[in-house]
Amino acid sequence: MCGIVGYVGKKDCTNVLIDALSKLEYRGYDSAGIAILDNDSIKVKKTKGELKILEEKLRSDSTFHGHCGIGHTRWATHGEPSDINSHPHGNARLSIVHNGIIENYKELKSFLEKKGYVFESQTDTETVAKLLDFYYSGDPMEAITRVVKEIEGSYALGIIFKDFPDTVFAVRKDSPMIVGVGDDEYFIASDVPAFLKYTNRYILIEENEIVRINSSGVSVTDIHGIDVNKQVSVADWDMESAEKGGFEHFMLKEINEQPTAIKTTITPRISNGMPDLSECGITPERLAAYNNIFIVACGTAMHAGMLGKYIIEKLARVSVTVDVASEFRYRDPIISDNDLVILVSQSGETADTKEALRIAKEMGADTLGIVNVKGSFIAREADMVLYTHAGPEIAVASTKAYMVQIAMFYLFAFELAYAKGTISKEECVRLTSVLEQVPEKVGALLETQSSCQYIAHQLMNADSLLYIGRGLDYALSMEGSLKLKEVSYIHSESYAAGELKHGTISLVTDEMPVIAVATQRKLYEKTLNNVLEVKTRGAKVIFITHENINVSEEAADYVIGIPSIDDILMPMLAIVPLQLIAYYTSVAKGINPDKPRNLAKSVTVE
Ligand code: F6R
Repeated sequence: MCGIVGYVGKKDCTNVLIDALSKLEYRGYDSAGIAILDNDSIKVKKTKGELKILEEKLRSDSTFHGHCGIGHTRWATHGEPSDINSHPHGNARLSIVHNGIIENYKELKSFLEKKGYVFESQTDTETVAKLLDFYYSGDPMEAITRVVKEIEGSYALGIIFKDFPDTVFAVRKDSPMIVGVGDDEYFIASDVPAFLKYTNRYILIEENEIVRINSSGVSVTDIHGIDVNKQVSVADWDMESAEKGGFEHFMLKEINEQPTAIKTTITPRISNGMPDLSECGITPERLAAYNNIFIVACGTAMHAGMLGKYIIEKLARVSVTVDVASEFRYRDPIISDNDLVILVSQSGETADTKEALRIAKEMGADTLGIVNVKGSFIAREADMVLYTHAGPEIAVASTKAYMVQIAMFYLFAFELAYAKGTISKEECVRLTSVLEQVPEKVGALLETQSSCQYIAHQLMNADSLLYIGRGLDYALSMEGSLKLKEVSYIHSESYAAGELKHGTISLVTDEMPVIAVATQRKLYEKTLNNVLEVKTRGAKVIFITHENINVSEEAADYVIGIPSIDDILMPMLAIVPLQLIAYYTSVAKGINPDKPRNLAKSVTVE
């Protein structure tokens, strides 16, 4: 939520900042703005709307050039999207960009108003800018330190001062921010893709460390002004991974990257044919000792957890509770120190999931993060971490991150089941080898899914639709439904197929689309009966099942056949058409699936 960038170097900072912001638009696109230092003055350009509007405005201003500046792309929290509420905020002496929420901004604002400050915007950020101005009397470090001691909440701040024409200052707490280290050029950014084009070397910044980047390099001090030695890490993401690479949208590119993402995630974790998660400290002995497992996450990551629950319980016979992180943190869960809490998060920075992690640790449980972004909060704070290797996920709607999260759950479930003695070594090896075949099958499936485009055209005018399934197919349909609604704006719900008759079937009217997922052979006849029930009430049914199952016309209007694999692994294949249907429906409706309205990736506020 909100992306911040900063640049110091020999290049024209306007171009670099815009380019860097374009890689962070997934964090919000309500407004964009930059502030640069030019000839001892601060110049600001900001505007409501997507970055391209700012770019247009800058094109018509030939004076906007410098070598040091900050930038922002906003997901509005306090104050509607408008020019005045856009970042940067500040005055002729200083300018700031902010990602996060200042919780005590009302008290600070009234203090500052009493001191004579007049506020223009409705943002919490303006309070920080004015407080900084209040404390600034020539020493930026002193002013930043005093501000940091007074503000409460979450923040990643990029700051420039008129008196320091080649320096960007930065500080963070509970919002991500890293420093990019190039050749004679330095960056601050919310995320690595912002500067990948220029450098893959970066420094992680801890809470309330104060950063200075200028022509002589990077320096970091703690809140007491003591220098901190920082290590430079190297990101294994390349520049292409943050570009569209010939695809029309990031979402489509990322769907197509899934075979590679699965392979890179599972291959290093298979040894002698068996899953091996020992890299993070998971051993069969440790696994065997857990009584209960909790999976906590938000949105798509939570849906991956739902699948994880079905797989783990089926194979390992360990009880798994799945919680939405925003509920978990307030429901006073019953967890003991023999339990394992798994936090699933692409970004590793989701506010509610971070808080769930804190609670789980406080209660004495072991914590395991399944995280995509290296060095993110959850990756650093969980007792154990398993990185998914999806590469940067730029599209707001998560696809490849979901795929690798479920791949990780398969490996985990196989290892746990073997550790608990609920499957034999032979079965564990067999299941692992079937998992290894998945990337190729997903690749083949992606080649043959033109039918999804046709189906999308049949759905695009629907007001509402249902996704139904049983067992693993129900867990999967939750994700199918979320994907469609977030990128196509069509209302949809997922239902356990057997639950329809208990109320929801009254919604079914003539021509209402129902997407039925039926890949679990044991449950096939049951789901088929539910499909017939909606079909006889006029529903238009899209039926997703094994390609070798013959579905009668009486049951389905369209059938999507999936190549067969063990039923337990079918979700990894069946998710592909669900993602593609969502993508093509969005495109058919003229929506940009990469930037659905009101959404932002990486929800760093509660
Ligand atoms: C939906 C989507 C979101 C995220 C959720 C959690 O497509 O991407 O539902 O899954 O906001 O985000 P992470 O995984 O970063 O914690």
